[in-house]
Amino acid sequence: MKLTHNDRAVLRGDSGAAARMAMTILVRMAEVYGAGELLDISAAHIDSTIYIGEANLEFAERLASQGARVAVPTTLNVSGLDEEHWKEWPVPEDWAEKALRHMKAYERMGCIPTWTCAPYQTEMKPHFGQQIAWGESNAIVYANSVIGARTERYPDLLDICCAITGRAPAVGLHLTENRAGDLLVHLHDIPAALQKADAFYPVLGHWVGKAAQNRIPVIEGVSLKPSEDQLKALGAGAASSGATALFHMVGVTPEAPTLEAAFQGREPSEIITVGLDDLRTARRELSTAEGESLDMVVVGCPHLSFSEFKDLAHLIEGKHRHPKVAFLVTTNRGVRERAQGAGYLSALESFGGKVAVDTCILAAPMLPPAIRTIMTNSAKYAYYAPGMVRKKVIYGSLEDCVNSALRGSVTMDDDLWHT
Ligand code: F3S
Repeated sequence: MKLTHNDRAVLRGDSGAAARMAMTILVRMAEVYGAGELLDISAAHIDSTIYIGEANLEFAERLASQGARVAVPTTLNVSGLDEEHWKEWPVPEDWAEKALRHMKAYERMGCIPTWTCAPYQTEMKPHFGQQIAWGESNAIVYANSVIGARTERYPDLLDICCAITGRAPAVGLHLTENRAGDLLVHLHDIPAALQKADAFYPVLGHWVGKAAQNRIPVIEGVSLKPSEDQLKALGAGAASSGATALFHMVGVTPEAPTLEAAFQGREPSEIITVGLDDLRTARRELSTAEGESLDMVVVGCPHLSFSEFKDLAHLIEGKHRHPKVAFLVTTNRGVRERAQGAGYLSALESFGGKVAVDTCILAAPMLPPAIRTIMTNSAKYAYYAPGMVRKKVIYGSLEDCVNSALRGSVTMDDDLWHT
C-alpha cells in the first residue's frame, strides 16, 4: 500500500506509542479493505464510546495512558452512562464505574464530549464533500445522504484509530465513483397526507433497508420535501434493517438533483416499486407485541432534536401520563438545555416524563425487569429492542405514543395507513 512519508514516520513511532498503535491497526485494516492508500480526514465521530466489556475499556485506557490525542475535531457517540440520572435507574454500580472510566479515557484523548448519536444536529455538523470517519450507523447514513459528507461505515475501534492519525482508507464511499445509486425504489401511489406524516419515514426506511441490504437505494416519487428529522428517521430505519450507509432521494438529497445524477449516468441494477400495502406490512413488522398492554414509551432514537422536543411539548402540554406507563426521552445535553430554556423540559416533567442524556437505553442497563412492553416512534429502536433488551415493542407515531401514555394502554390511529 502506498504510504506517505508522514504515515511511515507515525508507523515507526515518531509520534509516540499510541499513534503508532493506531496507525498499525489502520494500515492493516486498510489492506483488508483493499485500499491503495490512505486519505486525509478533517473530522471523526467515535462509536466505541459505550462500555461493553473489559476489552474495549482496556483499549481506550491503553490509548489514553500512552498519550493518544485526536488529530482532527472528534465528536463522541452515546456513552454507557447518563452521568446525571443513572441512579434513578437500576444501573449496577460496577457498570457505572467502568462506563465512567471509559468516558473519561475518550475525553483525555481530546475528543469533544457531545455524547450523542445525532452529531449532525450539533454545531459539529460536517459539510458537503467533507472527508470524515464516522461510526454509528444512523449518523453515517445521515452524513452521507442528507449532507453529502463522505464516510465509510467505520466499526468500533477503527474510528478512534482514524481520529488519532487523521487518516482513513481511500475506499468505498470516500470515492465519488462508489457513491452512485444501485437500486431504484419507486414510490407508487402513496397518499400525500401519509408522506407528510412523521410516522411514514421510519416505516419507509425499514422497508428500504430490507430491500436494499448493502446496495445504495435511490428513492423516487416523494411528492414533498421531507424535513431534516424525517430524513433522519428514514436513514436510521434503513441502516437498521439493512446495511444502508447512503441513500439518495431524487430532488431532495444533495447528490440527487435528478435521477440521472443519483445513478451517475448508469442504469439501476434493479427497479422496485413500493406501494401502500408494502408499507403496511413493514409497519406491522416493527411491532412484536400484541394486545393493549403497555409499560413504557421511549422517544428519541436517534437522540431527540430540539425541533422534535418542541413537537412533543405541544402534544403533552397540560396533560399527565397514566401512572402505569413510564415515559422516557433520550437526547443530548445541548438539546436538553435548549429545551429547558424553551419550557419544553418542564412540560415533559409536568407530564410525568423523564429525560436521559448522554446515553442510549439499548446500550445502558437501565430498564427495570418489570418493563415488558415498550412503545416507540423509532424504527431503529423497534428493530433492535426485542433482541438487545428482550422487550416486546409496539411501533407507533409520536401522537400514538403520547395518547397511549395518557390512556395507559396501546392506542393506535391507523387512518393514515388506510386511505
Ligand atoms: Fe441512538 Fe441508541 Fe437509538 S445510539 S440511534 S438512541 S439505538
